[in-house]
Amino acid sequence: MALLYKADPQRGQLWQQMFALHAPDIEFRQWPDIGNPADIQYLAAWQAPDDLATLLPNLKALFAISAGVDQLNLPSLPAHLPVARMLDPGITQGMCEYASFAVLSLHRDMLRYRQQQQTGTWQAHALTPASQRRVGIMGLGQQGCAILESLKPFGFQLSGWARSAHGLAGVRSFHGQDQLPAFLAQCDILICLLPLTEQTQGILAHEVFAQLPRGAALINMGRGGHLVEPDLLEALDSGQLSGAVLDVLQEEPAKGEHPFWHHPQILLTPHIAAMTQPESAFTVLLENIRRHQRGETLLGQIDRQSGY
Ligand code: GLV
Repeated sequence: MALLYKADPQRGQLWQQMFALHAPDIEFRQWPDIGNPADIQYLAAWQAPDDLATLLPNLKALFAISAGVDQLNLPSLPAHLPVARMLDPGITQGMCEYASFAVLSLHRDMLRYRQQQQTGTWQAHALTPASQRRVGIMGLGQQGCAILESLKPFGFQLSGWARSAHGLAGVRSFHGQDQLPAFLAQCDILICLLPLTEQTQGILAHEVFAQLPRGAALINMGRGGHLVEPDLLEALDSGQLSGAVLDVLQEEPAKGEHPFWHHPQILLTPHIAAMTQPESAFTVLLENIRRHQRGETLLGQIDRQSGY
């Protein structure tokens, strides 16, 4: 019985060592050296190979190596195939670190001070206390909830919005389409952590920006597909938004001429907010394989209908 790994080859070597050490009964194979396809029961992948059903006829489960699964092209996968998201605590740690960095950068005006440094301008601006800064998260899954917890010690006013109701201590919670306007109206800093689905594609657009308080800022740590990029430029130009921290783009890697590269009010990073850490993710993946072998539901198993 074999597991096929199809993601970053360098980190694949680490995965391989861990399987050899802790689960020698599972043969680890790394894409593209798949050997006899009939042996492969499990696939751990960032992107699934085309024509999965024909290529791997005995595949029993697909484990995404990532927290998001939109890049897997779910509708193209066999309907019966269980698919699990990666619930690596290492990803959550990375997301919390990045969110703190991004929120604090915007809260403490770092985009403006970066510009001032470039022009040799020594000028202080008024400091808004964290207790007067309202930070709202769209998407209250594992990452969103962990990030809210990690932001609590700073003393921000925290809120969250999701499709369904969530009761989170110390967080103003909003849910459903009806409550979206009320949520947006009180976000000085909006963080997008939604899964990318048909419903959330292009959600960060003019209509949403217009409902934020004037001068609000945006952090996109979800997927590039959430953001309508020309609408962000327009909102920054008009002053409706004051800044943005973006870790994801519609098209990655960004082309050299992408307008975000040199935009003074945009801080752009190359999809690095979090990375699956084989050291911590291995335990989760192995537990999931064992669960599958025992006939149990997988950790992070996605609902094929809703797509997350
Ligand atoms: C990275 O983008 C992930 O989904 O884990």
